[in-house]
Amino acid sequence: MVRLDKFICESTELTRSLAKRALHRGDVTCDGEVVKNSGFKVLPQMDVRLEGQSISIVGDRYVMMNKPVDTICSTIDEQYPSVLSLMEIEKADTLHIAGRLDADTTGLVLITSDGQWSHKITSPKKDCGKRYLVELADPIDNSLISVFADGIELRNEDGLTKPAVLEIIAPTQVRLTISEGKYHQVKRMFAAVGNKVVNLHREAVGSIELDADLAPGEWRFLTDNEVSSVK
Ligand code: URA
Repeated sequence: MVRLDKFICESTELTRSLAKRALHRGDVTCDGEVVKNSGFKVLPQMDVRLEGQSISIVGDRYVMMNKPVDTICSTIDEQYPSVLSLMEIEKADTLHIAGRLDADTTGLVLITSDGQWSHKITSPKKDCGKRYLVELADPIDNSLISVFADGIELRNEDGLTKPAVLEIIAPTQVRLTISEGKYHQVKRMFAAVGNKVVNLHREAVGSIELDADLAPGEWRFLTDNEVSSVK
């Protein structure tokens, strides 16, 4: 149950004082009855209307986007637009990105208003795998499978990277699954073994796969199963 004035603020663009004014004017009905009391408790399933229009609280939102190249996952940058600016969605300012990609990386980004959910994706303690398709400048040797599984030392970083799964598809094409997200991690892991990433695309986060129907720049809401797959 939530107070009616709070309900109005969360479901519209009105401030608390404008919500109170709308209430005093008699512009708000709950299940067909005019309610003027800001402290009135709104029950789940109640039909709340402002000037006859039904309003409801936007709950937490979970979105996947196929990030195009030359977009960024933060909001401040002069050079490239933020992926959030590609979305026409209400209350975009309540959303954040769960695990950033570089401007030149493409593929799956998860966008949400739920901070606890995104923490489960980004925290290295939660072991949520991020799978990348990687194109390399030079052919790769099979021996790197165990090197990446054992963990490698990155420049300016203490300790080893967590075990990573490397699958060789072709001499210069691999899949790499990592469960942490250090700055430029994939590029730095290949640099540490004398190679260079020339193309990087994220295919999956945990068991959430990038939807093949999404063209670069397109997005969709996650299904309930996708949301609850993040543990
Ligand atoms: N690792 C990188 O180097 N860049 C990314 O965008 C993601 C992982």
